[in-house]
Amino acid sequence: MDYRYLGTTEMKVSVVGLGTWQFSESWGVTDYERARAIVERAFQVGINFFDTAAIYGKGKSEEFLGRAIKELGIRDDVVVATKLPGSFLSYRDVIKGTLRSLKRLDLDAIDLMQVHWPPCWHNFPTCEYMAALEKLVNMGVIRYIGVSNFAPELIDSANACLAREEVVSNQVRYNLVEKDAEKEIIPYAEYYGMSVIAWSPLAKGALTGKYTPENLPEFADVRSDDPVFHPENFPQVYEVVKLLKQMGEKYGKSPAQVALNWLINSSDVVIVIPGAKSPEQVEENAGAAGWKLSLEDWVKLDEVSDRVHLTRVTW
Ligand SMILES: NC(=O)c1ccc[n+]([C@@H]2O[C@H](COP(=O)([O-])OP(=O)(O)OC[C@H]3O[C@@H](n4cnc5c(N)ncnc54)[C@H](OP(=O)(O)O)[C@@H]3O)[C@@H](O)[C@H]2O)c1
Repeated sequence: MDYRYLGTTEMKVSVVGLGTWQFSESWGVTDYERARAIVERAFQVGINFFDTAAIYGKGKSEEFLGRAIKELGIRDDVVVATKLPGSFLSYRDVIKGTLRSLKRLDLDAIDLMQVHWPPCWHNFPTCEYMAALEKLVNMGVIRYIGVSNFAPELIDSANACLAREEVVSNQVRYNLVEKDAEKEIIPYAEYYGMSVIAWSPLAKGALTGKYTPENLPEFADVRSDDPVFHPENFPQVYEVVKLLKQMGEKYGKSPAQVALNWLINSSDVVIVIPGAKSPEQVEENAGAAGWKLSLEDWVKLDEVSDRVHLTRVTW
């Protein structure tokens, strides 16, 4: 495993973390023992960065993650990140929502509290929720403040509201077939020394090679209407998958490992948090670190993936 500093903090996190949205009905890991086995294997293979959110299973993911960390006795060796929904951002709800997350995670402090998405329809002023978050840092219940799905302009505004703290990370969609974060978000993060935490780094499993245009299942989970798997898009995605398979054979790696390796080598501010539904998947994903695609192969994947133009206008 390789490790990088989280933004400007002193915390070193594994370049491959674990996303735990899977611990919910949305993805289907609703059995605690299975969730615990995933967390345990993640830790065994060097993962020390765990991402959850209040909305994942309405608290189930936080509960499972916190319980597993406690039972495994690994609290002092891991970095726990969670998120407050964009609808929980009035001053009082930031405090109340954080208290609830702390309780579900069974922690004294949350290492990284992220604003899950900007307030869209509640009209909360940016400085109101940023001031509440800074207060929680001052009180020692949050260590660092992060955001998710924020445009650079809004991060500028958020930072301007903070007296002593700064936004240390932005968690955004970033994978080989959805690379829009490269246009503004990653250059901005590089300039300011923030981390970019890549969500859906495997395009929700589409880049793992196990789904083909011929055997695309009718998903019963969160992917049922995901544009990546739509017939207008998936054949393009599959062109990238074919190259990932070829490269995997060359390097003795799986397509998922190649796809994740490409991301962590695209910028030294990027950390990936693939979700896993089994200990085997998490172990495989951890194997994306510790080696490097050649520059030539990295560029080949970049060029082929540049030809993918997903549409979200699917109906
Ligand atoms: N901040 C945000 O707004 C936001 C949004 C979305 C996600 N996230 C975070 O990002 C994390 C990851 O994103 P994601 O869950 O959307 O997508 P993802 O990591 O791209 O894909 C995860 C899915 O891919 C499959 N998979 C994973 N590893 C595999 C392997 N080695 N081999 C074969 N299949 C494998 C599994 O599903 P199957 O086995 O069923 O195919 C797994 O559930 C989430 O857990 C969450 O923490 C954040």
